[in-house]
Amino acid sequence: MDPNTPKPIHRLNEQGYELLVNAVVDYALYMLSPEGEIISWNAGAERIKGYSAEEAIGQHLSMFFTEEDRAANRPAHLIATALNTGRAQDEGWRVRRDGTRFWALAVMDVVRDHDGRIIGLAKITRDMTERHESELHLQGLRAQLFQAQKLEALGQLTGGMAHDFNNLLTVIIGASALAGRTQDPKRIKELLGSIHEAGLRGSHLTQHLLSFARQRDQQQQVVQLENTLHSAQMFFSQALPKGMTLELQLCPPLHPILVDPSQLEMTLLNLIFNARDAMEQDGSIVLRAENRTLTGEWDELTGEFLIISVRDSGSGIPPDVLPRIFEPFFTTKGLGKGTGLGLSQAYGFVRQHGGTIRVDSEPGRGTTMTLCLPALLYQAP
Ligand SMILES: Nc1ncnc2c1ncn2[C@@H]1O[C@H](COP(=O)(O)OP(=O)(O)OP(=O)(O)O)[C@@H](O)[C@H]1O
Ligand SMILES: [Mg+2]
Repeated sequence: MDPNTPKPIHRLNEQGYELLVNAVVDYALYMLSPEGEIISWNAGAERIKGYSAEEAIGQHLSMFFTEEDRAANRPAHLIATALNTGRAQDEGWRVRRDGTRFWALAVMDVVRDHDGRIIGLAKITRDMTERHESELHLQGLRAQLFQAQKLEALGQLTGGMAHDFNNLLTVIIGASALAGRTQDPKRIKELLGSIHEAGLRGSHLTQHLLSFARQRDQQQQVVQLENTLHSAQMFFSQALPKGMTLELQLCPPLHPILVDPSQLEMTLLNLIFNARDAMEQDGSIVLRAENRTLTGEWDELTGEFLIISVRDSGSGIPPDVLPRIFEPFFTTKGLGKGTGLGLSQAYGFVRQHGGTIRVDSEPGRGTTMTLCLPALLYQAP
């Protein structure tokens, strides 16, 4: 062929477009009037929703919605959004002709004629049921894993707690016996004070244990760390052997964060367990919290963050181990000692909240694990 001959330009005629639209079977692709009436229908729509073109054309979009969504005016709301903004997106359950439900990912775009008048809405729907179900399944598995981990942590905590409860009971028994033997009202008052104090401590501990053991409710709450860490400190200390202490360093006022408090507690506990295992001797673990503005230096995060770090003066992490520590099931601890899930839980938690986790470690000098969580900042009115 003569190379100078211009290449022919192929254009689709109307029939060609129709063939194209009908060749798409993985997407329901159809047109609505601005009022939401169906005016065209393709093979994908028939495949996904189960209605033939004759059955669908002329009907209203709302026929695919669940009763709850219809009652909530969801179809009308979607149409109004598309007409007002040019586009609407939605994800949710829809109903097929046979009454079964599918999880739809739907987009609606306004279609205009050459003069800019709205002539209808182009609607594209995808059946995402399989993906949705596998996501739900994964969420279920994660929840199970979390619960199993929590039970294991509870086992470790209650061991320490039994010891602490014993101490509290010793105080109560001893002080009440002494109070029974003395006539001095001042002394009796002092002893009653100690009994009361021991009782309060015990009840606090039990409350914390119970709230920790509760099934996960996955509830995001505004957490103000300076209010919660002091009571958590006593609880966390249960996991530490005698001679090892947990020191709090808080730099208030700390930014509030929006997290599931039980997951945050689990994360901190995992870091504290790791610090404890790395030290194996007397010493202090430092839990520090402060605000920081990030400008991309950590995982390209920018903005206001709450930084929570757990520092130990333990063995440190060897360079060949370091790249693997966040892998699920990676552990250097002996059989039955570590599951290798602690840091992968911590990693999942921070990523899920749009944050990150950093590790600074030097063999022989200790490790600092730093959680970085986006601050919840209220806009000034
Ligand atoms: N503070 C630390 N000091 C030294 N090594 C650490 C520290 N934190 C984590 N590691 C290393 O990272 C590995 C993985 O930690 P991770 O918490 O995920 O699992 P684990 O502690 O081994 O087991 P689990 O937490 O399930 O009981 C540990 O086995 C250890 O080698
Ligand atoms: Mg661990």
